[in-house]
Amino acid sequence: MIYINKITNIRPMEERKEYPYNIPAILHLDEFEFKSNVTFIIGENGSGKSTFIEAIAVSLGLNPEGGSTYLNYRTYDTHSTLFNDLKLRRGPYRNKDSYFLRAESFYNAASELDRITDYAKMLRNYGGYLHQRSHGESFLGVILNRLSGNGLYIFDEPESALSINSLYTLMVKMHELEKKDSQFIIATHSPILLAYPGADIYTITNNGLEPTKYEESMPYLLTKQFILNRERVLKELLSEEE
Ligand SMILES: Nc1ncnc2c1ncn2[C@@H]1O[C@H](COP(=O)(O)OP(=O)(O)OP(=O)(O)O)[C@@H](O)[C@H]1O
Ligand SMILES: [Mg+2]
Repeated sequence: MIYINKITNIRPMEERKEYPYNIPAILHLDEFEFKSNVTFIIGENGSGKSTFIEAIAVSLGLNPEGGSTYLNYRTYDTHSTLFNDLKLRRGPYRNKDSYFLRAESFYNAASELDRITDYAKMLRNYGGYLHQRSHGESFLGVILNRLSGNGLYIFDEPESALSINSLYTLMVKMHELEKKDSQFIIATHSPILLAYPGADIYTITNNGLEPTKYEESMPYLLTKQFILNRERVLKELLSEEE
């Protein structure tokens, strides 16, 4: 299901001179269309993935540090003002659930949830208190228990907390949620997650967001190169400079 089908950057080109408007992901963004239930945004560290998807999350009324609409707290006010300039066009259907899952500030979101919620509700929605479990366990606890379908889900590098097995679990859950009319927008570096069937992949380049085939994506190519030629890659990386 596609709940948001288009993003338009209404800021005029001549006013895109400062952060966050001048980063490649945003500078060349005038219109972006979501065409699949699952959209991946990839690109180097610092290319603007988090800035881009955080702006979408904030435009939807979600907390910039992660969580749902109802989790209204703020530790550091670092989120960008970009959301004022990105206009989202919604499709004909309304999502009933939404969640912004953000690995880098998950600890803060987890602390706040544990603090404000009674145990019975935590057990029902998240599988228990989040800080009584490891990073990956609590991350998976949110994914498996809290997300209920008919949802718009935005994940920022979900793989960073997860083992490969847990990543498989995430993909199974995504499949279940996709069948229950959900839309996913995900920033990732994971060549495994990127293989999710039927997903669209966009790479942030100096020219903006470019559609990319799985087999041509950097996470896939670099991982393949490493696994197939591990010794040669390591030798090149670690050889002493003459
Ligand atoms: N408050 C800020 N002021 C100025 N520049 C910033 C600010 N926050 C982030 N940046 C810059 O914006 C760029 C995009 O950052 P962003 O966090 O969106 O990258 P990313 O693609 O999510 O990277 P990663 O893969 O490391 O998570 C980076 O070059 C970063 O240094
Ligand atoms: Mg990021």
